[in-house]
Amino acid sequence: MQPEVRPFRHAATATWSYVVSDPRTRAAAIIDPVLDFDLYSGRCGGAAADEIAAVVRDRRLTVEWILETHAHADHLTAARRLQAGLGGHIAIGSGIRDVQRAFAALLDLEPEFVTDGRQFDRLLEDGENLALGSLRVQVITTPGHTSDSLSYLIGDAVFVGDSIFLPDSGTARCDFPGGDAGSLWASIQRLYGLPPATRVFVCHDYAPGGREPRCETTIAAERAGNIHVRDGTAAAEFIALRRSRDAGLDLPRLLYPAVQFNIRAGRPPPPAASGRSWFRLPCHGAGDPGP
Ligand SMILES: [Fe+2]
Repeated sequence: MQPEVRPFRHAATATWSYVVSDPRTRAAAIIDPVLDFDLYSGRCGGAAADEIAAVVRDRRLTVEWILETHAHADHLTAARRLQAGLGGHIAIGSGIRDVQRAFAALLDLEPEFVTDGRQFDRLLEDGENLALGSLRVQVITTPGHTSDSLSYLIGDAVFVGDSIFLPDSGTARCDFPGGDAGSLWASIQRLYGLPPATRVFVCHDYAPGGREPRCETTIAAERAGNIHVRDGTAAAEFIALRRSRDAGLDLPRLLYPAVQFNIRAGRPPPPAASGRSWFRLPCHGAGDPGP
């Protein structure tokens, strides 16, 4: 039995989220759900998450898992919001602890912020299997973009997060704290070792050249034609390409709020005395601090 995969496109962040379900038992996992967020006002919105919840309810699915492929830097996660309405356990790779440590230091987070991953319901290791009705979710660690990056193999479908994108779009950046192009190359080799007919579902598609956004390809198509790593690409060649591209990239627009929200498993920072929560943003290069 193969899983049913329902993709959801979040246009503002070019993110693909998924509801993956077992046709036999109607058990479901939600992968990488997005919370709407307006950077100018700091206001969160649930339209994208509500669309997912509506499909889950219409199809009478039981959400067992809400799975993050990594702590995202370009959108806020709707994991917590969806859990409140639908249940399920929020899981992420155990490498989240490294990501929490790195960003707690970088952002001068509050001393009470703990970096042992306890904000999540479950921390996952390479090779673990999660039950999803009569299916199983196999955890494959695929670090490189971040140190907590995972792929989830469910039947004939693999959800690769930010590692490979569609063949015409190459691979994910590796310049965040804990990122490493050599690790990504090794992770991609693992993915390319899956059966060639395996369906590949990506986390982002930026639709180059004005083509329609897409979310799905196969391992065979990636190995034949990925513009950054295909069969025969040497590690050194990929690493040099990835590093030179990363050197020219801007930071993601939502980097600071996204990281602060996502390493807390989809919760806002603790409220200030006013009762309001705030995101931190660095102030570089403005000279000496004032009195
Ligand atoms: Fe990412």
